Amino acid sequence: MKKPALNSRRDVIKALSIGTATSLVAASTTRAESVTPSQTEGPFYPDIDNDLTFVNSRKDRAKGDYLYVYGIVQDTEGNPVNGSLVEIWQTDFQGIYDHAGDENHAKKDPNFQSFGRCVTNAQGHYIFKTIRPRYYAAGRGFRTPHIHYKVWRRGFHDLTTQLYFEGESKNAEDGLYRQLSDDEQKRVTISLRPATDVHPKVQERLSSDFKDQAPVSHSLIGRFDIVLKIVSES
Ligand SMILES: [Fe+2]
Repeated sequence: MKKPALNSRRDVIKALSIGTATSLVAASTTRAESVTPSQTEGPFYPDIDNDLTFVNSRKDRAKGDYLYVYGIVQDTEGNPVNGSLVEIWQTDFQGIYDHAGDENHAKKDPNFQSFGRCVTNAQGHYIFKTIRPRYYAAGRGFRTPHIHYKVWRRGFHDLTTQLYFEGESKNAEDGLYRQLSDDEQKRVTISLRPATDVHPKVQERLSSDFKDQAPVSHSLIGRFDIVLKIVSES
């Protein structure tokens, strides 16, 4: 059968694009019966959920004092920022990080996840279950116990900060902590209380959300709210 004439430039382009797409699909389906070869996984990314007390595939829990850290991510007007990615990393109960540069790395608690990630919900809330970090030697002094935070949200400036704990004796010796003004220290320092102090319904919720094997009664809890700056704000 005779092909219809291509009457206009548009017809030619249309015919070409359909033809190109058709030939691409044809090319990609000629070996459809051959399954893509599989390869072993690696490098292995760590477990990165918001429960740092448990590493997938391991049966034992992390050692240390269990700690829930929760809060709200909001803008400077106090509006909750949903969909923010909140990441934390910290030492294990001995003050050891999960990276090769830590000279005690070999002794790190293998059941501690070290790094966690959470996305804020519609109300801007986030929560982690972790352990209370320990101080560690740094240079000639110490870093007081802290949790590193990084928070991202499109339309907002990225925030990198560190969270500290009220009453830690090494806070006063920590160079980075001392660089902060009194007001700044207040905004990145939280008090901890027994998790049994929160409403029983919240305790139930914590237990079910985290499938707790360690009872909430043995855990601490603290609130750390975070304020992000909108990109258009100077
Ligand atoms: Fe640190």
